[in-house]
Amino acid sequence: MSDFGFESTADDVLEGKDLTGRTAFITGGYSGLGRETARAMADRGAHVVIAGRDADKGEATVAELKRETGNDSIEFVACDLASLGSVRACGAEARDRLAKIDLLINNAGVMACPKDTTADGFERQFGTNHLGHFLLTKELMPLVRKGKAPRIVNLSSRGHHLDEVHFDDPNFEDREYDKWKSYGQSKTANIQFAVGLEKRFGPEGIHAIALHPGGIMTNLGRHMTEEDMRWMKKRMEDNASQGGEGFKTIPQGAATTCWAATTEELEGKGGLYCEDCQVAPVDDESTQGGVRSYALDPDKADRLWALSERMVGESFAP
Ligand SMILES: NC(=O)c1ccc[n+]([C@@H]2O[C@H](COP(=O)([O-])OP(=O)(O)OC[C@H]3O[C@@H](n4cnc5c(N)ncnc54)[C@H](OP(=O)(O)O)[C@@H]3O)[C@@H](O)[C@H]2O)c1
Repeated sequence: MSDFGFESTADDVLEGKDLTGRTAFITGGYSGLGRETARAMADRGAHVVIAGRDADKGEATVAELKRETGNDSIEFVACDLASLGSVRACGAEARDRLAKIDLLINNAGVMACPKDTTADGFERQFGTNHLGHFLLTKELMPLVRKGKAPRIVNLSSRGHHLDEVHFDDPNFEDREYDKWKSYGQSKTANIQFAVGLEKRFGPEGIHAIALHPGGIMTNLGRHMTEEDMRWMKKRMEDNASQGGEGFKTIPQGAATTCWAATTEELEGKGGLYCEDCQVAPVDDESTQGGVRSYALDPDKADRLWALSERMVGESFAP
């Protein structure tokens, strides 16, 4: 049982750790939880690579983080996860510029956006949150293989309780689009992807962990309507009245990522789902936490792997 929990911050979990010589590659690293993860890891000496789709925001964040941490080893690489072409270009650029990746933090995400498609015609949430990261991870695997005790951390969400992956209709072609079911599907995929990675790459020492960071006010809520806000607030209040916790701060929200990426407690382990700096129990009922059994189901993880390979048009074998 970890010493850390709901209240812990990214700095708390990294206290006393020296990340000098470690390279952390963080998608969505110029905003919200990704930025705080980048800051905290850079503060402990890591070489930090921020990947994002907006070069101006990325370069500005690199400059800010260098000032805030005094660490000059921070860089930006362009990557639009909603375009397979951009993901491939990012992979090529990273392989050209970097010697290795020790910590791959698949953090970027979109939530509850109106129905839309990516450049390749995938439903936007599944396409960005899962398929973009699936292909990016494949592109970066040669660098991850060169890392020391490498870990891959997938930012999922308690939102995975909202739905499973619909293997026969991931793009909502045969059913009515529902922005929350779509988010739930993509966040379940983030967990099943960690299970699939662990099965294929765990034996060679590359471990993959999924997590829920908590509920945190960030730009993630940019597509939420007033009605969504009321619904979310009520959900949080109901949770609180049943003994659950409320919102976290951004430093608290980045703690489980930093913990999953560095804790000795998870050495040699993967295919897990964490929350509040702990491995979460399997729970098919609670709205307060835990991981749904379908998200850790190895057969479903294999189906997702095959579906993802078909959709991106490439095999991803060890
Ligand atoms: N905040 C929460 O309460 C909460 C709860 C559960 C899970 N999570 C998960 O935590 C992760 C981080 O979210 P956050 O709260 O920090 O939200 P955020 O501040 O909105 O950060 C999300 C990041 O993802 C990037 N992104 C979105 N679409 C992209 C694309 N097509 N290509 C590349 N990057 C893209 C965004 O870049 P742009 O600014 O350019 O769009 C931004 O940098 C997400 O995976 C989210 O699902 C958050």
